[in-house]
Amino acid sequence: MLFEKNLLGLDIGSQSIKMVDIAKTRTGYELKAFGLGLIPSECIVDKDIMDSETVVDTVKNLRENLKIRSRGTASAISGHSVIVKKAELPLMSEAELRQTLLIEAEQYIPFDINDVYLDSFILGESLERSDMMDVLFVAAKKELVDDYASAVRNAGLKPMLMDIDVFSMETMYEVNYPDAPESIVALVNAGASMININVLKEGMSIFARDISMGGRQLTERIQREFGVSYERAENIKTGANIEGIDLEKINYIFKMAAETYVQEIRRTLDFFLSTMVNENIEKIYLSGGSSRIPGLVKLLEKQMEIPVEKVNPFNNIKWDDRVFDPEYMAYIAPQMAVAVGLALRRADYKW
Ligand SMILES: Nc1ncnc2c1ncn2[C@@H]1O[C@H](COP(=O)(O)OP(=O)(O)OP(=O)(O)O)[C@@H](O)[C@H]1O
Ligand SMILES: [Mg+2]
Repeated sequence: MLFEKNLLGLDIGSQSIKMVDIAKTRTGYELKAFGLGLIPSECIVDKDIMDSETVVDTVKNLRENLKIRSRGTASAISGHSVIVKKAELPLMSEAELRQTLLIEAEQYIPFDINDVYLDSFILGESLERSDMMDVLFVAAKKELVDDYASAVRNAGLKPMLMDIDVFSMETMYEVNYPDAPESIVALVNAGASMININVLKEGMSIFARDISMGGRQLTERIQREFGVSYERAENIKTGANIEGIDLEKINYIFKMAAETYVQEIRRTLDFFLSTMVNENIEKIYLSGGSSRIPGLVKLLEKQMEIPVEKVNPFNNIKWDDRVFDPEYMAYIAPQMAVAVGLALRRADYKW
């Protein structure tokens, strides 16, 4: 018999760890619990776990506070140790692809093949040639995957599935925007140390890229400009503590940051567009904590000349407004995109 098991979504970000528990009911999805725990900036650097004890403790605390009993967990990695590449190969079955994977992947992946875990997906027949098919390769450094899996395990959970950030955004989008009229959309997740980009065509990923840039640089800029600690700079940034702060100066810093972000996102999307003929991105969905940078949505919209919307990962998920505060939900939603995508995954296993 084949069972589908509900998985806990665990997004281990370099600034915050997010946990989401979603139940699949007969009528759809239902939010049971979610939470977010901050970790100090030196815990995860360039997506490498430097202080696993703090990560493990934060996950344990979250699970305890949320009173979550289940253990099976889906988590994700991203960054420079993960490569996603699209390739065109002759038509073949999944089984045949698996066999050729090792030989074919070597030319697409700039790492030693022995150091990575490989996966591949058949996207479908190639648009240009009917005897070819488009295949997506994913390679992730074993060391990174193993480190994240260990952290999950040491927190008392069972790592059942390791995804990558860009694909969990895709799962989140599929479930929450099933009737979206656009053919091509870009999902852009702006976090603390990464901007993850996934361009979907008819719901399938056709381009994915991680940019090493994030809110951390902005916090460091605030820290330098005002001569304050990293923690104080974070509080200034989120508006939690702006006592004695020159508002004009901070607004100028936000403006500069938004410009840098938009420039990077635009550069990447323009590169993608240059590889396409007669295709346009019709909408951008923005997520991640850094999507809150004042003016970012407007500036991106203006520069790209396409609509930009903050994503709502709870758009198609039921939640009880007596349990969850609507105001907080609206605030936190874009930051939960990856974690929700993970919580929507299911582990199939044979009995
Ligand atoms: N109001 C705000 N204005 C500007 N930036 C904000 C605001 N709130 C949070 N951020 C920033 O969002 C970032 C955290 O976002 P997020 O939780 O998506 O990142 P992460 O998943 O921990 O990081 P990553 O995925 O890059 O490792 C931090 O840099 C934080 O300073
Ligand atoms: Mg993140």
